[in-house]
Amino acid sequence: MKHFTSVQDTDDPLELIQQVVDLINNPIVSSLGEHKTLALIFFNPSLRTRMSTQKAAQNLGMDVIVMNIDADAWNIEFEDGTKMNGSTQEHIKDAVRVISGYCDVMGVRTFANLQNQQEDYKEKVLSEFIEYSSVPVISLESATRHPLQSLTDMATIADSGIQRPKVAVSWAPHPKVLPHAVVNSFLEWIVETDAEVVLTHPEGYELSEEFTGGVSINHDQNKAFEDADFVYAKNWSSFSNYGQTPEVNGEWTITPEKMSRTNNGKFMHCLPIRRNVVATDEVIDQSLVYEQAKNREYAAQIVIQNLLSTL
Ligand code: CP
Repeated sequence: MKHFTSVQDTDDPLELIQQVVDLINNPIVSSLGEHKTLALIFFNPSLRTRMSTQKAAQNLGMDVIVMNIDADAWNIEFEDGTKMNGSTQEHIKDAVRVISGYCDVMGVRTFANLQNQQEDYKEKVLSEFIEYSSVPVISLESATRHPLQSLTDMATIADSGIQRPKVAVSWAPHPKVLPHAVVNSFLEWIVETDAEVVLTHPEGYELSEEFTGGVSINHDQNKAFEDADFVYAKNWSSFSNYGQTPEVNGEWTITPEKMSRTNNGKFMHCLPIRRNVVATDEVIDQSLVYEQAKNREYAAQIVIQNLLSTL
């Protein structure tokens, strides 16, 4: 593994998921990362990704530098060839080359701007980090994917021991306009496993076919939930009408009544979650969300460990 930005970066996703499951059940610390430094660069807010990745690196004996680049650094210029006589003060190629010199592994978080589909789906910011970094890059969430979250989610499902689980992936309401990264990424990882997957969302919220190929889609949320072992909820905005939020018919908030259609199914969400909007308090309080959050540490530890072993 050279970088960790999507499921395609790993030769054997099932083996990686199993490594995380093993670590969940037998947490170990090591000195593999002693005298090595991890730099975590955030363009956007984070609680779980920031703290779990930092803790994971510390479990391996690494030093960690965290930079909230949007708040604490110079304004970054992303366009090549620009005459920088405006508000931007440092070019991304200079910033990434400099950061590379201070660390052995780098993580970066950047979100979609949801204005320009092509630009977001080209992963402009993440691609620039990979191009100019001289050290391995971990995506801490990008415009189109959230691989550390997905690896965690796969390991959390695998750790249940349920063979061929049925997983319902459901759109849920949210007051803000949100990107596709979590759901895209979840789908591209889950199809690598033995799970039966059904995706449910209102009309108008179809995702990119790049991520839904081979996934069954049912616009009836109640039917999609029938016999599910896991319900994975997330909000996202329209892909085709990019960044828009078409009107939704019906009630999509996940309630105990809806969960009762499942096979005693477990509710999952990446967090943060808008309580009583995405799902009710009762659903969240009986869910796997805190196990998922804790497992972020183990997923990050395995990914960092794999990258360190290539240095
Ligand atoms: N799930 C997740 O990535 O949480 P944060 O945005 O708080 O890092």
